[in-house]
Amino acid sequence: MDVTDTAQMYDRRLADAPEDAHWNVSDAPEPRIHRIHGYPAKFPAFLTTKALEYSRSLGNHPKRVADIFCGCGTVAQEARREGLEFWGCDINPVATLIARTKSANLRPARIEQFMQKILQCMPAQSNDAGLSHMATQRLQRWFTPSRFEELSQLLNAIRAAVPDRSAYRDVFYCAFSAILKSCSQWRQRSIKPTFDYEKLPAEVETAFTNQCLLLIRAFAELPQEGVTKRPEILQANVLTVPPPVPVDLIVTSPPYVTSYEYADLHQLSSLWLGYTEDHRSLRDGSIGSAQHSLNLRRDMRELNTVGTQVVFSLYNHNRRAAHAVANYYIDMQRVARRCLTFLAPRGLAVFVIGNTRYSGVDIDNAAHLTEALLDAGFSCVSAAKRTISNKAATPYRNGNGRFSREKTPNHIYDHEYVLIAHQ
Ligand SMILES: C[S@@+](CC[C@H](N)C(=O)[O-])C[C@H]1O[C@@H](n2cnc3c(N)ncnc32)[C@H](O)[C@@H]1O
Repeated sequence: MDVTDTAQMYDRRLADAPEDAHWNVSDAPEPRIHRIHGYPAKFPAFLTTKALEYSRSLGNHPKRVADIFCGCGTVAQEARREGLEFWGCDINPVATLIARTKSANLRPARIEQFMQKILQCMPAQSNDAGLSHMATQRLQRWFTPSRFEELSQLLNAIRAAVPDRSAYRDVFYCAFSAILKSCSQWRQRSIKPTFDYEKLPAEVETAFTNQCLLLIRAFAELPQEGVTKRPEILQANVLTVPPPVPVDLIVTSPPYVTSYEYADLHQLSSLWLGYTEDHRSLRDGSIGSAQHSLNLRRDMRELNTVGTQVVFSLYNHNRRAAHAVANYYIDMQRVARRCLTFLAPRGLAVFVIGNTRYSGVDIDNAAHLTEALLDAGFSCVSAAKRTISNKAATPYRNGNGRFSREKTPNHIYDHEYVLIAHQ
């Protein structure tokens, strides 16, 4: 369904939009490269192909593609596979490490040579990884002393075996980052940092070797030709980053509000890899974080109509969540305005976005973003509903963010929206 005017949104609710099969499933299995590192709220790779097909069906043949919340580089990798230029940003350095790795042009045989070199020199390495006192203290609570020493040796071995400026450094940092949770006491698959006293942490050398073998197989599957320019992937805030050379198509999935605290979830990697001494500093500027403060009385004037309704409905039930949602919505309205300035004439911006429910109140992110896009100056927003294929058996999450059979106040839906904003 198409919405060209904010007033139409009240007669034609997005929730009533028909399910659109075009966006639902892919015929092809997802390439292995998309499994080289876990990532919260990674979206299915085939959505990029669907967005490209959609754009071409309108007679637009994108040459430059962008993802303004590039996460682990799903769109970056798919654009590269199609031989298209790519620009992307993400505020979190662990995200951009994975995205850069996934879209790099690397030779599997070379990865294997470096892997052997790393494993050979690992036993002779120091067990002091040169981390700051603060980072060490934060990390040590997650690891047994022996795992901590082995990981320090592994990190030193990567530094010793792979030259500093080599494009292959990232790939091994990425493998190192990918095994940290399994080698620690972090509860597996928990979306909040949770200590698991019962867990037997994985053995470092075995986990790293398996991870490298997965990487080698993943790179071996990739087409070597057809790749044009190196993708541009920046660790930056989309609200302040200098605009890219105009792009023909943006494909992105925005962060959710208060659901994933990315800075906290990536803390093991950001501390080990020296991106920060205190991961909480990486929450700054992260859209959807519950940690920002807001002067609701002053700032609510910026909220659009849907945003005001949602925030007021929530306010009496859950004041903290109401503040977080208000903050998120104000940021997303700015994102909508920025997207318009990033696009070349006749460009499209495709957003994959879901709704949630807190304390019995529907948090209608899709309707809010549709209004924000129209207010920003897009002429039309086409909305399609799609089923989330990997949905769990229950729509509820408990306090740890795990799926729960109990009816909790935190409810997620089994469908989401694809919003296509036309210039
Ligand atoms: C839903 S995830 C994107 C996942 C991505 N589509 C993928 O497949 O990996 C949202 C991303 O937005 C990023 N983010 C949050 N605030 C940001 C900001 N101000 N600027 C850029 N990225 C931001 C988060 O770090 C997170 O990686």
